[in-house]
Amino acid sequence: MNFLHISDTHLCFGENRSPICSSPERLEKVYAAAAKLDQKPDFVLITGDFVHEGGPADYAAAKQFVENMERRYGMPTHVALGNHDRHDAFYRGYCEMPAHSGPYYYRIKMPGLRLLVLDSAVDDQVPGRLDSEQLQWLEDQLQKPCATPTVVALHHPPCGTTVYATNQNNLQKPELFQKILERYPVKAVLAGHKHFPTAAMLPGGTPVYTGAGTAFAIEMPQGGALSFVDGIQAQFCAVYDQGFYWSPFCLDERPLLVRMTPQQMREYHAEK
Ligand SMILES: [Fe+2]
Repeated sequence: MNFLHISDTHLCFGENRSPICSSPERLEKVYAAAAKLDQKPDFVLITGDFVHEGGPADYAAAKQFVENMERRYGMPTHVALGNHDRHDAFYRGYCEMPAHSGPYYYRIKMPGLRLLVLDSAVDDQVPGRLDSEQLQWLEDQLQKPCATPTVVALHHPPCGTTVYATNQNNLQKPELFQKILERYPVKAVLAGHKHFPTAAMLPGGTPVYTGAGTAFAIEMPQGGALSFVDGIQAQFCAVYDQGFYWSPFCLDERPLLVRMTPQQMREYHAEK
């Protein structure tokens, strides 16, 4: 099964957008590019900061957006919430439910994958947290026998990353999450929040892949400061019984040097 891991979309609707927000038109470029791949993703996972501090109307527009993407490109979207999301606006606008502030977490079972989506976002706080109820839910899910591989998604990386300057904003008390993961065969944890593609490993050996953002990118710190730059990057994922693959999928324009089919590549290497 193939899927696209997108993070930190920071969607904003309307004219006056902050430079760190993304228009739906910008985000659609990601769906359009992914749909053209020979290995077309079966679905899209967004690991939080879905809408940038929006109200119910923004989430209603975001819902319309993902429905349009499914219609146009045949890829449904599953979302996790991040620190720039707002729970009550999300429940009202996106879920069409009464507003409440509780976490949004769920399980999706698909042919070839069990996806567990957690909610580490706490309204108006940058670092993440998973309360004991949600951690218990995670353990209950993982205890259930499942013939397909499992992937866990959340916004805040549950460990350190190479962007040391902002690691204090990752998941708080990550050892609670890490100890659960140690006991079960989870293929990968997918996160966002860093706006920088980075990989890590939990103490029990589970890999963690933190996706770049599609709204903007952060570069490795230089001179004691972080640079926020324009850049669109997603991550292509493939999950099999035997393994999990995650690779950055760059949408920034880059000059073409050469184009070859696999057959032409074989011929090229054979000639050497
Ligand atoms: Fe973000």
